[in-house]
Amino acid sequence: MNVFAMRTALTGIKPTHVPHLGNYFGAIRPALRLVESHRTAFFIADYHALTTVRDPNALRGYVYDVAASWLACGLDPARTIFYRQSDVPQVFELSWILSCFVATGQLERGVSYKDALAKGESPNAGILCYPLLMAADILVFDADVVPVGADQKQHLELTRDLATRINHVYGEGTLVVPEPLVTEAPLVPGIDGQKMSKSKGNTIPLFIGSKQLRKLCLSIVTNSEPLEAPKVAQGSTVYELFKLVASPEEAKAMEEKLARGGYGWGHAKEELYEVLEALLAPMRDRFSQFRNDPGELDRILKQGAERAREVAAQTLERVRARIGIR
Ligand code: TRP
Repeated sequence: MNVFAMRTALTGIKPTHVPHLGNYFGAIRPALRLVESHRTAFFIADYHALTTVRDPNALRGYVYDVAASWLACGLDPARTIFYRQSDVPQVFELSWILSCFVATGQLERGVSYKDALAKGESPNAGILCYPLLMAADILVFDADVVPVGADQKQHLELTRDLATRINHVYGEGTLVVPEPLVTEAPLVPGIDGQKMSKSKGNTIPLFIGSKQLRKLCLSIVTNSEPLEAPKVAQGSTVYELFKLVASPEEAKAMEEKLARGGYGWGHAKEELYEVLEALLAPMRDRFSQFRNDPGELDRILKQGAERAREVAAQTLERVRARIGIR
């Protein structure tokens, strides 16, 4: 495929936690697959994390956690521009420009800001302006598509509004109007059967040791049918997780064993552990290799940032000329 004809897909990763299995199947793997069909740029949104993270060592550590995680999951820095947001100063310049084109009321209607107010917090201006910074991330890169989860859709709407408004004032082509790309992500249940989510405390972290992984698998909530009883695979947490990881043939075989009876949930959990371990063991090794080599992570991110700044500088030159800043 001709790289120059490829559309650009860009996404940001907030460095706040080491990813879990739900993040992997829901966001990381679909994003990494875009490399086949798009020019890709993935970055660590470290300045977005500053709206909430107050511990400098923790923030530094989260950035390395996330960088090592994505590399461990298969991100190839030779094929994807992978960088730290904070290494691209043009993002912050564009964010200011954008702020002059948004009504304060539109920011006040932002979901995260409204949520914070509803919880009785007094959100800082960073939380209010969060969507502007995100819009700048996207627009500075002339991104065509942005893979996002449902929770980020409003931010993408704002980004599109801003680009359209600015193009209306200064002429088409000032900014690229991006589209959301809602990847068909499977619903990943947590060990309690609810959607896997950090806030619910039901996650299977991607890089835990194999003993802990087995323990977590065995603690998955199931029905308490007797061993002999025929069981329904569909909808059970163990089977739904197994199906995500195992081959279709393996999944079919488990479904049949459960239906036949004489095969218990405990057996199914052991099988789930086996396939998960096979998937995660190499990723766990790569993660600890990268995580223990921050110099290498810095080198990779720095190289990515150089490429990102080249793109961003061109965008800013175009935008500055159009708006009359010279
Ligand atoms: N707001 C996104 C999140 O919380 C992270 C993010 C920052 C992002 N900038 C972005 C995502 C630009 C897509 C594009 O997950």
